[in-house]
Amino acid sequence: MKNLLSAGQLSGAQAVEILDIAEGMADVNDREIKKLPTLRGKTVVNLFFEDSTRTRISFELAEKRLSADVINFTAKGSSVSKGESLKDTAQTLEAMGADAVVIRHSASGAANVLANSGWINGSIINAGDGTHEHPTQALLDAYTMRKRIHGSASMGKTLEGVKVAIVGDILHSRVARSNLLLLNTLGADVHFVAPPTLLPSDSSNFDAKLHYSLDEMLLKEQPDVVMMLRIQTERMNASFFPTEREYARYWGFNAQRLGQLKKSAILMHPGPMNRGLEIDAVSADSAQSTVLEQVANGVSVRMAVLYTLLSGERNANAS
Ligand code: NCD
Repeated sequence: MKNLLSAGQLSGAQAVEILDIAEGMADVNDREIKKLPTLRGKTVVNLFFEDSTRTRISFELAEKRLSADVINFTAKGSSVSKGESLKDTAQTLEAMGADAVVIRHSASGAANVLANSGWINGSIINAGDGTHEHPTQALLDAYTMRKRIHGSASMGKTLEGVKVAIVGDILHSRVARSNLLLLNTLGADVHFVAPPTLLPSDSSNFDAKLHYSLDEMLLKEQPDVVMMLRIQTERMNASFFPTEREYARYWGFNAQRLGQLKKSAILMHPGPMNRGLEIDAVSADSAQSTVLEQVANGVSVRMAVLYTLLSGERNANAS
C-alpha cells in the first residue's frame, strides 16, 4: 500500500492489520520513552490548507514518535487558485525530498489529485478533503470501538455485528462517509440518524439504515455505539434547521438520552465539539463518552498508518 486516500480502499484484513499494529504503538505510547526509530531519515510533510487542531497535532506527534523529520506547512489564507497552489506547493515539496505528505484541504478530492498528479513520488495520506473522506479518523474510531468492546482481547478482531448510529450533520461530514465505508468492511451494522435536510439527497447507494428521529432510533435499535457529528456551519450555504435551540432539542445528545443508552454503549464525537448544540456537557464528560480516548488512540493509529506506508520492507511488497 503506497497511499491512504479512502477508508474504502482497505480490505478487512488490511484494516484489522493496521488496528493490530496500532495496539503495539499504544504500548509504545505508554512507555516512559515514547519513541521508535522506524522512520529515522524519512521526511514527512504536514500540508494543511484547512484549520485543524487535533488531526495536525496527532499526525505530528505520530511522526515524531517514529523519529521522522517533520515539516509543517500551513497554507491557510492562500489566495492562489486551488489547483495551481497545490501544484506549486507539491513540486516544492518534491524538490525537498518528502517521503510522505499528509494533506488536509477544503476541496473534496484534493488528496486524490495529489496522488494521481505525478507531482510527488512519496506516499500521500488524506487527513480530510472537503466533505469527502477522513480515513485515519475512521480507523481511530474503529480502534476505539474495538478497544471498548473487546478490551485486551482486541487483537485480530473485526466489528462484526456491532450496531453503530451516526447522528447529525451527515451531509457535510467526511467523518461519516469514511466511517460508513470502514464500518461496512469490518462487518458493523450502520445507522444514519439526521433531519432529512442533513442527509444526502440520494442515499440509495449507501449501506446504512436511515432514521429521522433520534429518540425513536435509540428506543428501537439500542445501539452499541452512538457517534455524534459536529454541525459544520462553515460548509453550510443555507439554513438546514430552524434554530440551534430546536436542533439541540431534537438532535442533540443530552443527559436524558444518555439515560436511554445501554450501560455498555459508548458515545463518540470526533471533535471539535459544539457543546450545547450536538452534545451537552453531561454527556460529553460522562463515563460512556470516548472523546478523549479517540484523541489518544488517534496518535497510535496514525503511527500504525505511517509505519504501514513507509517502513522499508513493506514498501518492497508495495501494491
Ligand atoms: C473532523 C474533521 O475535521 O473532519 N475533526 C477531526 O478531524 N478531529 C470533524 C469535524 O471537523 O467536525
